[in-house]
Amino acid sequence: MAYEQQRQRLLMKYPAIEDLAKKACQRMPQVGWEYLITGTGREELVHRNTADFNEITLTPQFCKGQLNPRIQTTLFGQQYQAPYGVAPVGLTGLMWPRAEVLLAQTAVKRGIPFTLSTLATETPETVGPHVGEMGWFQLYPPREPELRRTLLKRAWDHGFRTLMVTADVPTPSRRERTKRAGMGIPPKISANFLWQGLTHPVWSWGTLKNGLPSLRTVANYSEFSSMMSVGEFVQDQMGGNLSWEYCQQVRDEWDGPVVVKGLLHPRDAEIAVEIGMDGVVVSNHGARQFDGAPSAIKALPEVVRAVKGKTKILMDSGVRSGLDILRALSLGADFVFLGRAFIYGVAALGKIGGEHVVEILSGDLKNNMSQLGIEDLNELYDGLAS
Ligand SMILES: Cc1cc2nc3c(=O)[nH]c(=O)nc-3n(C[C@H](O)[C@H](O)[C@H](O)COP(=O)(O)O)c2cc1C
Repeated sequence: MAYEQQRQRLLMKYPAIEDLAKKACQRMPQVGWEYLITGTGREELVHRNTADFNEITLTPQFCKGQLNPRIQTTLFGQQYQAPYGVAPVGLTGLMWPRAEVLLAQTAVKRGIPFTLSTLATETPETVGPHVGEMGWFQLYPPREPELRRTLLKRAWDHGFRTLMVTADVPTPSRRERTKRAGMGIPPKISANFLWQGLTHPVWSWGTLKNGLPSLRTVANYSEFSSMMSVGEFVQDQMGGNLSWEYCQQVRDEWDGPVVVKGLLHPRDAEIAVEIGMDGVVVSNHGARQFDGAPSAIKALPEVVRAVKGKTKILMDSGVRSGLDILRALSLGADFVFLGRAFIYGVAALGKIGGEHVVEILSGDLKNNMSQLGIEDLNELYDGLAS
């Protein structure tokens, strides 16, 4: 009863992801907030990513009697309680201390996938015990094959079974917003940083307990320990070296499903199929890499035309509601991921925040399925969207 009361109270106070974003902005130091919301360039793609969703309409049908929407789905042989999951987010602890562990726990409780980034601030070793069968691991491609194999082994040994290889960082992005905010890794202990700490006490207390955020998964490799910025790190050790041949090697080295993340072009999706990828993630990295790219939801239909049925089609970038998930599935996506929305949740509400995001998204998804006149996700991809 107490749980139900709290659930209802939260749904009254924070009925939508945007409400959590407002709260998160207050609770997070400015540099964390700017890092979370940043795009790149003039950030036009940040706008397009959400605006293009809004243009997609779905025409409802009525008089179908009582509808009981079911949102469970199976992907790569694993049953999930909803057709969406947590996208990989790097430097997570800068935005909220131990966010990865909190979201891994949410994932298990609510039966959705959680993806741990190579550049997260917790490690496969610390997150693995919390993530059960819901763990996915995201790989930024190390130049050294030996380092790649070590990372993959650590992830596998700690229970992560689906691998997501990120393709869309050929070079670090400029992210002018984070430069303006004076962001450095590790964070510089400036007067402003101390002031931000004093004025965001919950974040500061968590950070004191957990330690200043750093890239702990890669911190043990001595050659990386002098890393000054995420950009330099990605460029020097893990960026600009991805090729289809490399993807093929990763495919061969991993025993579970492998998906390649960040594709927008249908030809790339076809090549991914040719080399045996189990899935593609249609994504523009949440608008953080290339401001000239199309929104992921606009790119999705071409990819669907090219590879639907030959591989699983996942998508992210700009998803903010259950209705957005419905739209993506209607256009042929098999599964959807969200990055910022889950971070808004934990930053706004701490350990119950991830679950509240699930409450919002699943509630909205089921409600909109009823509004549309469908009960089953399989009814969705049937020319419904226009
Ligand atoms: C703060 C932040 C950090 C991210 N870090 C990573 C990362 O380490 N690896 C990766 O593949 N994608 C990363 N992404 C991209 C997300 O996985 C995902 O593609 C994106 O957030 C989806 O857009 P959305 O935030 O609008 O949901 C990051 C996104 C954000 C917002």
